[in-house]
Amino acid sequence: VRKPIEDISVLYVEDEDRVREGMACFLRNRFEQVYLGNNGREGLDMYRRHTPDIVITDVRMPVMDGVALTRNIRNQDTDVCVIVTTAYNDTHHLIDLINLGISHYVMKPLEHGKLNHALTACVSTIRNRKRSDELQDATSVAYRSINAIIDCGEMAANQTVPLNGSLEQNQNNMIEALLCGGGGGSGPGPEILVMANNIGTAESTDWCWYELRSTGIHCKYCYREPPALNPANSGSDPILYCVNVDDPLPADPLLRRFIGNVAVSGERPRNLVWYRNGSHVVCTLNYPCRVTPFDAAMVKGLAVQSLYLKNLSNQIQATEDAFAYTITSLARAAEANDEDTGNHIVRVGEFCAAIAGRMGFPEIDAAALKLQSRLHDVGKIHVPVKLLKKPGRLTNDEMQAMRGHTLFGARIIGDHPRLEIASKVALYHHERWDGSGYPYGLSTTRIPLEARILSVADTYDALRSARSYKPAYDHDLAFHIICNGDDRTRPEHFDPEVLRAFRELESTIDAIYRRFASPPISPDQSPRGVPCRSRS
Ligand SMILES: [Fe+2]
Ligand SMILES: [Fe+2]
Repeated sequence: VRKPIEDISVLYVEDEDRVREGMACFLRNRFEQVYLGNNGREGLDMYRRHTPDIVITDVRMPVMDGVALTRNIRNQDTDVCVIVTTAYNDTHHLIDLINLGISHYVMKPLEHGKLNHALTACVSTIRNRKRSDELQDATSVAYRSINAIIDCGEMAANQTVPLNGSLEQNQNNMIEALLCGGGGGSGPGPEILVMANNIGTAESTDWCWYELRSTGIHCKYCYREPPALNPANSGSDPILYCVNVDDPLPADPLLRRFIGNVAVSGERPRNLVWYRNGSHVVCTLNYPCRVTPFDAAMVKGLAVQSLYLKNLSNQIQATEDAFAYTITSLARAAEANDEDTGNHIVRVGEFCAAIAGRMGFPEIDAAALKLQSRLHDVGKIHVPVKLLKKPGRLTNDEMQAMRGHTLFGARIIGDHPRLEIASKVALYHHERWDGSGYPYGLSTTRIPLEARILSVADTYDALRSARSYKPAYDHDLAFHIICNGDDRTRPEHFDPEVLRAFRELESTIDAIYRRFASPPISPDQSPRGVPCRSRS
């Protein structure tokens, strides 16, 4: 006995009770869901209520005939299979029906064999169409997944700022796209993604567990006993496995230890993709459907792209470190003969970054100012040592020579775009808001903001530091002099907005000074002479 077909439904419309009931019995043996109608009107109501896959209809019927019924159905659905049962004297309707796209017609009186032949053809057509729809859906999901991952790569490639800060965001975007099965949240993505970097010793390995939740991606937990990798094995070729729930687990010790570990955590691993390239692992698991080579390719794509981003990020970081190191070395070389040694340049950078942050600078710009401000006095390399170390006041000529350090500094730094801030602060850090500074006597906003910030930071640090011609002042006195003035320094020298941020940061400024305080000066460097600070 053949089991009735479950996935395809049939509507049979026939006005003759005897014919309808007889045929209904035959249809119910073949299909699980059979609906019946007495005429075209009733058939149309049934069609609208149940949307069957196949409609079998007589032609001549009261209220609404089979042609009108077919036309109405076609207006709603062009895919439904329509089989018309017709007597010889109805054949003049056939042209109309064929134009309406009926699948088959079967002559009355109905024979089961002929109707069965038509039904079999319809079932095959419907199943092919459903399969083709599913494939098309899967292809769209695949395209969406591929595009989502490519988009993340494109975003990373288009970034003009160093990737270091945004590496994690880029990686998270890719992981989210994969977990969503294409970014639309509609695809059959995995439930869990685990990524590990630097697999080797337990200490160096960094395992992360991601799951898609309504709030985004979560790193669920770190492993208690992460599976370690035999270093002798780490140089092997990349490995890619697709393992479905009924497949034997490959004899890969790392994969087996990982699966055991996941099982201990309470998850039942099934349908997974495992990719390992050296010490980098990505494993996606618990897909709702069987994993395919397509899923494997997606995981490999993500792993390779994240590896690429990581390498790129490491290289950028190395370049940035070298850049920072070079700037600091140059600044140290320049201050070798100056009394502003110790941590002066470090503290001034820290003050600048704090003030810039308070004034709303983006973090990346505040960080650039922190580093590049170290070069503000680099021009002192051209100032004679005897002037730099001279105790007491300088003569007018000596003062002119000292003031030249701003111009020399800008010349040394040059006009490379990466050193634009350094160049600005070197040239303008002795300009004053009220126009009484040098080298150009610029005032207010004609002085670059970075230099206005540095001016406050540099003055505060000079007040706090001991010189051959002055003792170190404590925070309260230094702060008071900047905010209220004394015989040399006036609040009008500073940008009021910068000064406001400086005031708001009072305790932070003091804390920075203490944190980066210079080592105590040796006896031969101890303060001597009259206290007349800050002469440049
Ligand atoms: Fe200076
Ligand atoms: Fe300075």
